[in-house]
Amino acid sequence: MASADMTNSRILIVGGSSGMGLALAKQAIAAGAEVIIVGRNEDKLRHARAELQSSALSTVALDITQEAQVADLFGRIEGLDHIVSTAADIEGAYELLPSLDLKAAQRVVESKFYGPLLLAKHGAPKLASTGSITFTSGIAAYRPSARGSVVAAVNAALEGLVRALAVELAPIRVNVVSPGWVDTPIWTFVAGDKKDETLDAMAKRLPVGRIGQPEDIAKAIGYLMGNGFTTGTTLHVEGGHRLI
Ligand SMILES: NC(=O)c1ccc[n+]([C@@H]2O[C@H](COP(=O)([O-])OP(=O)(O)OC[C@H]3O[C@@H](n4cnc5c(N)ncnc54)[C@H](OP(=O)(O)O)[C@@H]3O)[C@@H](O)[C@H]2O)c1
Repeated sequence: MASADMTNSRILIVGGSSGMGLALAKQAIAAGAEVIIVGRNEDKLRHARAELQSSALSTVALDITQEAQVADLFGRIEGLDHIVSTAADIEGAYELLPSLDLKAAQRVVESKFYGPLLLAKHGAPKLASTGSITFTSGIAAYRPSARGSVVAAVNAALEGLVRALAVELAPIRVNVVSPGWVDTPIWTFVAGDKKDETLDAMAKRLPVGRIGQPEDIAKAIGYLMGNGFTTGTTLHVEGGHRLI
């Protein structure tokens, strides 16, 4: 279903050079979409191009926390069907309060809240009226851990933003996917060399008995893009994490 809906569509994926965004880019291209992926780091974009090997893919290096860069991007783009952001810069932000660096906390807010806000501001005028915007929050808003206060707060704020944007930008649909624990490169910043043992322990606790894969979240975003009757919604894709 999601695949058919993506055929011949044009999708901008911020964060498409890694993790969930990269998995979405792969699924969208396989379904016949044209995909533009955005990230800050040229090396990551180069790796994504090498992995996806598709003439339907283009990449743009920019930082979505910088309004001039976001405005310039949309100044050069016409005819989009969907905008997605899986961007997050959480480096240094998973700390207990005494060690929390305010600059790292601000980078989380900028990448997960203000960046998406700027994408909506400058990107909505470029979207088809049947189009959609999808952002990415996360389980930390519902099952916070010590060290995760800033991420928890930003995820919750983003969900409120999405409900308001769904009203303001209608008929464009605006949704947010809330992932549980998913095996992606972001875990380096959360658990460092304890990544594998941390994810294994959670897999045993979850009702589904496993950690999420980037493809699980990509499919959920595909659903949000394709279902024309879904807006202002938080879609939880977390293996039952909120039940434990
Ligand atoms: N993985 C999990 O277990 C989990 C759980 C709950 C929620 N989430 C959320 O899910 C989303 C996707 O996570 P992921 O695990 O796929 O992360 P990831 O693998 O680290 O990918 C993050 C992507 O965002 C890009 N990015 C970061 N800051 C950016 C900025 N300012 N401007 C443009 N691009 C930027 C990164 O590229 P550059 O660094 O090159 O910019 C990268 O492509 C995030 O919002 C994360 O908080 C993840």
